[in-house]
Amino acid sequence: MTPQERIAELTDQLNYYNHQYYQKSVSEVDDFTFDQLLVELTELETKYPEFRRPDSPTARVGGTISKEFQTVYHRFPMLSLGNTYSEEDLVEFDNRVRKGLNGQAYEYVCELKFDGVALSMTYENGVLVQGATRGDGVRGDDITNNIRTIRTLPLRLQTPAPQPPAIPALFEVRGEGFLPLAEFDRINKEREDIGEPLLANPRNAASGTFKQQDSSAVAKRRLDCYLYSFLSDPEVFQTHEESLVAMKQWGFNVSQTWRKCADIREVMLYINEWETKRFDLPLGTDGIVIKVNRYDQQRELGYTAKSPRWAIAYKYKALAVSTVLNGIRYQVGRTGAVTPVALLTPVLLAGTIVKRASLHNANEIERLGVMLNDTVFVEKGGEIIPKITGVDLTHRTDQSQPIVYPTTCPACGTPLIRKEGEANFYCPNERGCPPQRQARFEHFIQRRAMNIESLGEGKIELLIDRGLVQTPADLYKLTFDDLLGIEKVFDDEETGKRRVVSFREKTVENILTAIERSKAQPFQNVLFALGIRYVGNTTAEKLADYFGSMDAIMSATQEQLLAVPDTGPRIAESVVEWFADPENRDYVERLRAAGLQFAGEKKVVEREGDTLEGKTFLYTGTFINFSREELEARIAANGGKVLSGISKKLNYLIVGENAGPSKLEKAQKLNVTMISEDEFMAMLSV
Ligand code: IVH
Repeated sequence: MTPQERIAELTDQLNYYNHQYYQKSVSEVDDFTFDQLLVELTELETKYPEFRRPDSPTARVGGTISKEFQTVYHRFPMLSLGNTYSEEDLVEFDNRVRKGLNGQAYEYVCELKFDGVALSMTYENGVLVQGATRGDGVRGDDITNNIRTIRTLPLRLQTPAPQPPAIPALFEVRGEGFLPLAEFDRINKEREDIGEPLLANPRNAASGTFKQQDSSAVAKRRLDCYLYSFLSDPEVFQTHEESLVAMKQWGFNVSQTWRKCADIREVMLYINEWETKRFDLPLGTDGIVIKVNRYDQQRELGYTAKSPRWAIAYKYKALAVSTVLNGIRYQVGRTGAVTPVALLTPVLLAGTIVKRASLHNANEIERLGVMLNDTVFVEKGGEIIPKITGVDLTHRTDQSQPIVYPTTCPACGTPLIRKEGEANFYCPNERGCPPQRQARFEHFIQRRAMNIESLGEGKIELLIDRGLVQTPADLYKLTFDDLLGIEKVFDDEETGKRRVVSFREKTVENILTAIERSKAQPFQNVLFALGIRYVGNTTAEKLADYFGSMDAIMSATQEQLLAVPDTGPRIAESVVEWFADPENRDYVERLRAAGLQFAGEKKVVEREGDTLEGKTFLYTGTFINFSREELEARIAANGGKVLSGISKKLNYLIVGENAGPSKLEKAQKLNVTMISEDEFMAMLSV
C-alpha cells in the first residue's frame, strides 16, 4: 500500500469511527486503538503533507453537528487535549513546558479525566442562558433545555458572591456531562424489568441522552455534570486553582478530586494513586488531565492547531487481565430473556476478585469468537460488571471447545425463540418456567410495587417449592398455620456456605402484616406490580393518572392508550395483549377479590406548553384567578414542578394575598425569586 492509499484509508476509517461515536453514540473501537490510528495518520500527514485530505480527522477537534438542534458558535473554541499513555511522554511534556516558560517556576493542577460528554454553559447576569455540546469545537448544538435538567447545575447563581472576585456579568463554564454509574444501573435494571434492551455503557448512554429532543425524557435520567473550566473576558482569576475554588463556592459541581502538584513527580504520584481509586468514584474515568496552573503561563505556552500546549491527558490503559473461561451459565430473567454469563477462573482485577463477566448475548459470543476453556481478556471499564473483550489465541489448545448456544430453556426445557430484530433468545414459558415465576414474585413484592420485601431472600422460593403459591395472588390466601415452621436449607454457590431459611413465629407475623398492608398500596403500584411488558414504574403512574381505574385500563383500546402522554404503540399493544389473555384476567380478578387498590385519583394533565419546563414553583397565600388546585394543574400542564417547601432548589415563589410571612422571609434568605400572580400569568402566556 502506498502512503497515499494508507492516508486515505485511515482518514475514511477514523471518520467512520468518529461518525459512529459522535452521531450514533456507538464506539466500535477502544480508545487506545483509535488513538494509535490517529497517531499513525498524523505522522503520515507530517511526512507527506501533499496527500493530506481536506476531510482529515486530524484537523478536527470532534464530531460534526447534529441537524435537529440550533447551531451555536462558541465564544471560545472548545479544544481537545493531546493524549499520552506513558510516563516518558509526560516527562517530555514537562520538558516542553519548562522550555516554553524560559525557566520560570510553575505548578500543575491534576484532575481526573471524566468519561462523558463535553458541555459548555453560558451565564448572563448569573442566569444560565445557554448550554451547548462541543460539536466540532467551533460550533455545537444548543441543548439548553436538556442541560437545564441537570440537577446539580445552578440555573441562577446566588449573588453576590460570598467573597471576591465578583461574578462577571457574562461568563462560560465548561465541564463533563455524565450519567452516574448508579443511575446507569438503575436505568438498566428498569429496562430489564420491562424487557427493553440494555444500555451498553454510561458514556454512550449520556451522549445519547443529551441528544434527545424531548427534554422531559432527558430529565428522567438523572444526568450530572462536573465543571472544570471557567472562561470570561476579561479574566477574573490568576490561576486555574482559583477558578476551581470559586466555581465550587458559587454553587457549581466541581469534583473534589483535583490536586495542585508542585512538579511532574507529584503528578506521577497522583496518577498512581488514582489508578485504582478511580473505580470508587460515582462515574467512569479514563485518565488524568494535567494543566499548568497559572493563566499567564498558559497564555505564554499557547496552542497548537487543536489543543493547548499547557495541558495534556494521561490515559490509563484499560485494566485488563487474562484468565480461563470455564463455562457459561445461562440466566433466565423475568421476561424470559436468556443471557449468558461467563464463569471464570477467579482473578484479581482492580482490587476485586472477578469470577464472572458479562457476555451480553449470542451475537457477542460469535463476535468474540470465544470458545470454552479459552484464555480470555477481561477488562474493567466504566461499567460495574467486567466484560470479556477478547481471546488470547496464543493460548488456545485442543481443549478449547465451541460454545453451543442452548436451543431449549436451561431452566424448564421449553424451546427458545428469538424475536425479529432482537439479540436475545427468550423462553416463552412465562408461567411454568421456575426462574421466570420466581422473578415475577420478586417484581411483585418490590418496594415500588406491593412493598412486601420481608418476603425476600429465598422465602419466595420456599413458598413456591412447597406448593403454597402459584401466582402472587396466592399470597393473599396464606394463613399463619400455612407458614409456621416451614424451612429449607440453601447451598450458596457463591460462598459455598449453607443458609437456612425458616419461618419462625415472628417472621410469619411480619410477613402476614406486610401482605395485609400491601392492600393499601396505591393503584399505580398495583398496575406496575402486574409486570406487563414495557409498563415500568413511570408508565404505570401515567396510565393510572390518566384512566383512574383498572377497569378503565382493561377495557381501553390501543387508540385510547395512545392518548396517554408518553405512551407509544409498543406499550399500547403490550397492555391490550396482556389484558386479552384469559389467564391474566383471572389473575387480576383474584387480586381484586383480595382487596387491592383498583382505582386511584384521575389526574390527567392536558399539556398546554413548555414555558415552565425545568422550573420549580411554590405558592403562598390566596389568588384571584386560581384555586390552589388550578394553580398546581397549570404549573404541571406547562412543564413546571411544584415543590413541597422552600429550598435552594426552588426557582419561584408565587406570592398571593395574605401570604405567610415565614415563607417570604425564608425565600428572601435563600434568594428565591418571588413573583406575583400577574407575573406568573405572564410567564404562562409567553
Ligand atoms: S479540560 C482545552 N478537564 O476531555 C482543555 N477536559 O480531550 C479542555 N475531559 O473535551 C478540556 N475530564 O470532554 C478537561 N478534567 C477535565 C476533563 C476533560 C474530561 C474531556 C473533555 C474534553 C476532552 C479533551
